[in-house]
Amino acid sequence: MIDFYLNGQRQQFAEVTPGTSVLELLRIQLGRTGTKEGCASGDCGACTVSIGEPDGQGGLSYHSANACILPAHQINGCHLVTVEGLARGDALHPAQAAMVDCHASQCGFCTPGIVMSLFTLHQSQQQHPAPLTQQRLEAALGGNLCRCTGYRPIRDAALSMQDYPDTHPTWADDPDLASNVEALYIDTTRPSAQQQSRCRPGHVDSPRDIDTLRELRRERPYSRLVAGATDLWLEITQQLKPLDDLIDLRQVAELTTINEAPEGWWIGAAVTYSRLEPLFAEHFPAFEHLMHRFASSQIRNRATLGGNVANASPIGDCPPVLLALDARLKLDGPDGPRDIPIADFFLDYRKTALQDGEFIRAIFLPRPGDDQHLKVWKLSKRREDDISVVLGAFAWRLENGVIRDVHLAFGGMAAIPKRAPSAEAALEGQPLNDAAFDAAKAALHNEFQPLSDVRGSSEYRLVAAGNLLERLRLFLNTDSNANVEVCLDAYAH
Ligand code: FES
Ligand code: FES
Repeated sequence: MIDFYLNGQRQQFAEVTPGTSVLELLRIQLGRTGTKEGCASGDCGACTVSIGEPDGQGGLSYHSANACILPAHQINGCHLVTVEGLARGDALHPAQAAMVDCHASQCGFCTPGIVMSLFTLHQSQQQHPAPLTQQRLEAALGGNLCRCTGYRPIRDAALSMQDYPDTHPTWADDPDLASNVEALYIDTTRPSAQQQSRCRPGHVDSPRDIDTLRELRRERPYSRLVAGATDLWLEITQQLKPLDDLIDLRQVAELTTINEAPEGWWIGAAVTYSRLEPLFAEHFPAFEHLMHRFASSQIRNRATLGGNVANASPIGDCPPVLLALDARLKLDGPDGPRDIPIADFFLDYRKTALQDGEFIRAIFLPRPGDDQHLKVWKLSKRREDDISVVLGAFAWRLENGVIRDVHLAFGGMAAIPKRAPSAEAALEGQPLNDAAFDAAKAALHNEFQPLSDVRGSSEYRLVAAGNLLERLRLFLNTDSNANVEVCLDAYAH
């Protein structure tokens, strides 16, 4: 059973197969074709919808998501808003009216998704009024591609929608909507409902605690784990594989909390990137900056740090940063929990230290010392929303002009994300001179034999990795580091 509200109206589906996306549910089962399918992989934003969930204060908080890779069972108990639900009769919502008046649409294929991103921004502006800075605009619209209009009119629409009369959607008149959604949310997430919610044929189980999750893993060690689904769902949309046995982690309390300790933070594996943004902005700004490079807001709202680690892709964006920060992982499973350094997790291409039935429970990030620095530089063909060719994550301390505790980690250079111990040794305890960095760059050639693929040749990757160390040398040796960053950012995406 999938039970949710769509544009203020309750919808119930007795049977939905486990691999069904919200986009399929909307377009095929409900005939709501306003939400478009472009890439079917979370890149273009044509399928953007807005999801309202109880905010714990009697209201609903909305976030954007890509319906093409959003499992249908994950909208259980939510309020789903689509482009059909914004206008009030003939009166357009401010997000729509501004798009029309600013001539921000030509072919119109991207327009419903852009309108939904603007709607979500408008909702958040109403709940938390704040100046619409360039950074906020880019964050809200970074996941929406437009091929034919050009972004200036879209930006104009975003900036001007606050000046329009506040035309609410009709469903916003319902004073009971938030409480009804909250009641349904509680109802659909209670353990007994989850037993009934098994989709046929196949399974989707949504355990609420770690003991139930362990039990399910013992029973079905080969079922697939799903949280944000932003990568897993590509197996359906791009590889046309069936996914009919799923365990959803999004309601396991232990996997969705962030626990702060004096030594650092235990981050539940199913915590989304959006929830991590404030923590990273305060303590790991380079990590927060990276999140905006590799994921749009639609993706950050759903994807999880644990998913990026478990995926074990050699070009995953977070693992090199976690390696540079000396993160630890808490694994759990039928035999109970165990801790390992993240450096011991990646064994070979897509092969990890997880045993049958095990899962990542949490990631530990040590609290950085006042003198610890972190820089993360990602090279990709497109600045945002693109796969890394090479990513370098570097952590260090400076002590009387000498570099200490050097951690140099790379993605895209081997079958697994990996530190470069010889290059680290060449820098450790050395003054910031050319000789030390030349030795470190030379050491990379012995540490890595990267593959050539469509994104870059082996030679290119080696040169690029060396250039990232050169960038670090420039950064450390320049009095005005901020200016160097601006300058280098213009060239090194
Ligand atoms: Fe492109 Fe969903 S269709 S992001
Ligand atoms: Fe044609 Fe945006 S209006 S793709």
